Amino acid sequence: MDSILVRGGAELHGRIPIAGAKNACLALMPATLLTEEPLTLTNAPRLSDISTMSLLLESLGADVQALEEGRRLALASHGLSSHRAEYEIVRRMRASILVLGPLLAREGHAIVSLPGGCAIGARPVDLHQMAMEALGAELELRDGYLHARAPRGLRGAEIEFPIVSVGATENALMAATLARGTTVIRNAAREPEIVDLAQCLRRMGAQIAGEGSETITVEGVDRLSGATHPVVVDRIELGTYMIAPAITGGRVECVGGSRALLASFCDKLEAAGITVEETPEGLATRRSGERVRAVHVVTEPYPGFPTDLQAQMMALLATADGVSILEERIFENRFMHAPELARMGADIEVHGGTATVRGVSRLRGAPVMATDLRASVSLVLAGLAAEGETRVARVYHLDRGYETVEEKLRACGARIERVRQT
Ligand code: EPZ
Repeated sequence: MDSILVRGGAELHGRIPIAGAKNACLALMPATLLTEEPLTLTNAPRLSDISTMSLLLESLGADVQALEEGRRLALASHGLSSHRAEYEIVRRMRASILVLGPLLAREGHAIVSLPGGCAIGARPVDLHQMAMEALGAELELRDGYLHARAPRGLRGAEIEFPIVSVGATENALMAATLARGTTVIRNAAREPEIVDLAQCLRRMGAQIAGEGSETITVEGVDRLSGATHPVVVDRIELGTYMIAPAITGGRVECVGGSRALLASFCDKLEAAGITVEETPEGLATRRSGERVRAVHVVTEPYPGFPTDLQAQMMALLATADGVSILEERIFENRFMHAPELARMGADIEVHGGTATVRGVSRLRGAPVMATDLRASVSLVLAGLAAEGETRVARVYHLDRGYETVEEKLRACGARIERVRQT
């Protein structure tokens, strides 16, 4: 298995282009199932999760072409050959559950494997189920698969989520576009990826209002058409690379980034003493000299501090001057990076959903590995700041969500390489 080798200590200076958002693209791709006409996504990221979603859609009979080296995805679902999402694919990626709403809306039935457990928490799909039931579907769990049927079609309804869920909001939104009548989604997720999905669905002819707020209203239509849609910028990749110069010293401009995507994160970086500048082409971060200051971080649904940047922030705070507190409020087990950072000399104590990070003046390189995507990248960031060599194993986690991470960082002066193992 490949690993990433980082020799720490180099300041970073330069520019990093930010790709299209993985989590937006993973929700936009299943929207092809809602129409017989072609859906084209531009600015798509080149990631293994996108290949997994392509595989899943192809297994249902959709045609997926990756053009322009994967930057443009041409999707078409003229006629579907299956309505069953197999465990073999779903277990590799939980976003597979996002085919449930579109399949039900278009075909009137769907069989989708339950995704199973996950390194960062239990992550049940009860809210997806609840939304489909509210829209008139009947669901039953058999042999590890959710069997969903809506023989008379879906009908508009009031859906009130008890907690905010990005994926369940996306499933409800897609299903509601073809349901008869009006659907009102309350306590909806407000993430930029939801807004992006709503904009794409609107381009396809859907009637949607209120995306980006807590209440989304959808008037069902008889059919949707094809469209071309650019995937929104990846705010989590953006935040990750904004932390890189904060941790090493230097200045990096993230091209394509905007503060609007990450306001609470930017506020927290500034509180830690990092300079965040809006530039004509994006967003730059800079740290000169001083150690960063300790801060208190609480992860929350958008517009709060994103859980997907908690691990990277912990890497930064590991060398802060003072004691930082990180509270993880979205997932119950998302501190798997803490013991690995400790192997590099970080002083972190975890109690339930709270981590206390006592900043140390220096991290030291070590062999480390991680069990999820954001944890992996946090170890790469820590390696950039550490004395000596850090080897991050299980790089396949990184490849799920970061395009050519080593090239992007190397272009700014990082000493980082992929060590291929055959
Ligand atoms: C999305 O996951 C993202 N994935 C995650 O990105 C991200 O961490 C998460 O949203 C939160 O922002 C994609 O968009 C593909 P949720 P999702 O439903 O939709 C609970 C990354 O690193 N819940 O908003 O699965 C759940 O357990 C990742 O790129 C239920 O209880 O997250 C969690 O505690 C990982 N029942 C909370 O809600 C349900 O039916 C929020 O999860 C669904 C969720």
